[in-house]
Amino acid sequence: MKRLAMGTTLAAVLVVTSACERPPVEVVNVGFRGVGMEHVENPRQLQDSVDAVLGREPTEGILPPLGGDPAPPGTHQNVQVLGHLSAAEFTRTMNAVTQWVSPEQGCNYCHWVDPATGVVDFASDNNYTKIVSRRMFQMTQDINANWTSHVGEDRGVNCMTCHQGQPVPNNYFFFDGRSDPLRSYVDNAGARVQGTTALTGEGDNRQSIKQTEYTYALMIHMSNSLGVNCTYCHNSARFADWEESTPQRVTALRGLRMIRAQNMQHMVPLQDVWPENRLGPMGDGPKLTCASCHNGAYKPQYNAQYTWATDWPALTEIGYPNPPAGDTTAN
Ligand code: HEC
Ligand code: HEC
Ligand code: HEC
Ligand code: HEC
Repeated sequence: MKRLAMGTTLAAVLVVTSACERPPVEVVNVGFRGVGMEHVENPRQLQDSVDAVLGREPTEGILPPLGGDPAPPGTHQNVQVLGHLSAAEFTRTMNAVTQWVSPEQGCNYCHWVDPATGVVDFASDNNYTKIVSRRMFQMTQDINANWTSHVGEDRGVNCMTCHQGQPVPNNYFFFDGRSDPLRSYVDNAGARVQGTTALTGEGDNRQSIKQTEYTYALMIHMSNSLGVNCTYCHNSARFADWEESTPQRVTALRGLRMIRAQNMQHMVPLQDVWPENRLGPMGDGPKLTCASCHNGAYKPQYNAQYTWATDWPALTEIGYPNPPAGDTTAN
């Protein structure tokens, strides 16, 4: 009798659980069979994230490419990094950056309005946001032209990849004055802890509890930035072994080098440009992490095309100034 009751309860529990059953998680093998290198994905959560990303695609202000020869000298007064565009392509680009970075605020988020006359002075550099944006153009050009080994030959990134239609992206970092594991995104300290020599303090041997803690913190940060497990890149039996790692680990290493280069060449030099309220607790300016582009996805925005650099010469070629009128040495 007791047994029967239990059977009924069990059946009832089964009915309840199967009524609200979730789709099973999907497990994708990323390494040799049997070594447990698996990528675990919950299809429902993945679909929600993909839908959220697609919902951010700009619906206006993005025109097809206009191309054309570089604008003749004197077209602009103060154009330093977009002089390789035609006048039409330049305007197309300004419309697009407004959608990518400041759709609510408009052109004047970057451009100065003379308070006396109320007229916009497009050539003025009075707003710090315009000076930052010029750097952002240079940084994006550098990433797309020189780091195809990470961002791909035929996709690359545009302002939307990081900004997602808002002036301040969701992900960046400051130093916090404690362990700062993300220092690896700025300096070349490296993350290797498994030495190749027997004793500490010899050769390339950097083993120490401190270094190990620092490396693991960095690795957890990288995993979270991409929404993946350690086994997306490593065979967890032999973390250091490149032979048994996935191709993604090599891509990740290039990503680390790219981030350091961008932070050193473009983000850190903005230090004196940022207003006080954009600085971190230690007084340093914002810097990139993997999550600035990846935002929790193994490929930024799950590869959605509206975040690519394709068809944006402003972002795929290294630009130069538009010279003043009458300059015959142009180009
Ligand atoms: C996110 C920042 C940003 C937004 C928004 C923006 N611009 Fe610009 N704009 C820039 C930067 C940076 C330059 C300078 C580029 C360079 O130095 O090569 C520039 C330059 C210009 C110039 C050239 C001025 C000159 O003669 O030197 C014009 C014209 C212009 N923008 C128009 C617009 C218009 C119109 C809009 C709105 C549809 C707009 N911009 C929105 C950042 C922005
Ligand atoms: C790789 C990621 C990345 C890309 C690509 C990128 N940005 Fe940024 N941008 C950042 C980060 C990080 C900040 C710092 C956030 C802050 O202001 O605190 C920033 C700041 C800015 C700001 C200052 C906002 C403010 O209110 O302080 C402007 C304006 C800007 N970016 C424009 C652009 C433009 C225009 C492009 C494309 C040409 C671009 N960005 C591409 C990451 C990026
Ligand atoms: C997106 C790929 C990726 C993910 C995910 C990842 N790693 Fe790494 N890991 C790397 C790369 C690349 C290096 C080499 C970094 C370097 O040499 O600067 C590395 C290095 C390491 C090292 C040092 C190996 C040595 O040579 O001494 C350890 C330990 C490690 N990872 C553990 C982890 C753990 C634990 C996780 C999960 C929390 C993880 N990793 C997630 C890419 C990844
Ligand atoms: C400037 C933007 C940007 C930053 C910053 C960035 N990535 Fe990427 N990453 C990309 C793009 C774009 C792709 C897709 C390239 C493609 O599809 O060919 C990518 C692809 C990858 C892939 C390959 C994914 C796959 O399944 O094939 C890995 C792994 C990766 N990134 C790791 C990292 C790590 C780790 C960091 C930080 C150290 C980082 N990325 C920083 C833009 C970025």
